[in-house]
Amino acid sequence: MKVAVLTISDRSARGERPDEGGPLVEQLVVAAGGEVVARAIVPDERTEIEAALKDWADGGAIDLILTTGGTGLGARDVTPEATQGVIDKEAPGIAEAMRAAGMASTPMAALSRQVAGARGATLIVNLPGSPKAVQECLDAVIGILPHAVEMLKA
Ligand code: MTE
Repeated sequence: MKVAVLTISDRSARGERPDEGGPLVEQLVVAAGGEVVARAIVPDERTEIEAALKDWADGGAIDLILTTGGTGLGARDVTPEATQGVIDKEAPGIAEAMRAAGMASTPMAALSRQVAGARGATLIVNLPGSPKAVQECLDAVIGILPHAVEMLKA
């Protein structure tokens, strides 16, 4: 499974805060047998998020895009809208599974508006920004993502 990881954070994009989510996503993907072939950091700007998602999905070389950050209710949190703007098929169960698993750990998991869906044959899955949330969310769905990717290629 070829994976791209997009960190979405104003402060990390400006170099004011180290990117913790992106490296952790990469580590968890590699531990699960995936290959991270691209990484980028963009600010919480819908146009920049959409451009990165389209570029990777339409390039034909990436099976799965995992984003981290920008899924909350803050004024600058637009990752779900950007993802909705580029997918052609939503997979709500993936986001529901992550929220359900997260809520076993903290009710705050309900505050993530993360979405998942496909653009062509590429699956896009939003993760929240904090390392704890990244770990909990990926643990919940990493096992089903290879089958989702296979279905998109069939
Ligand atoms: N999901 C899990 N599994 N664990 C968490 O600790 N934190 C929540 C939520 N999702 C959390 C979680 C919190 S506090 C917020 S504000 C939202 O994710 C949005 O985070 P983001 O804006 O960094 O994407």
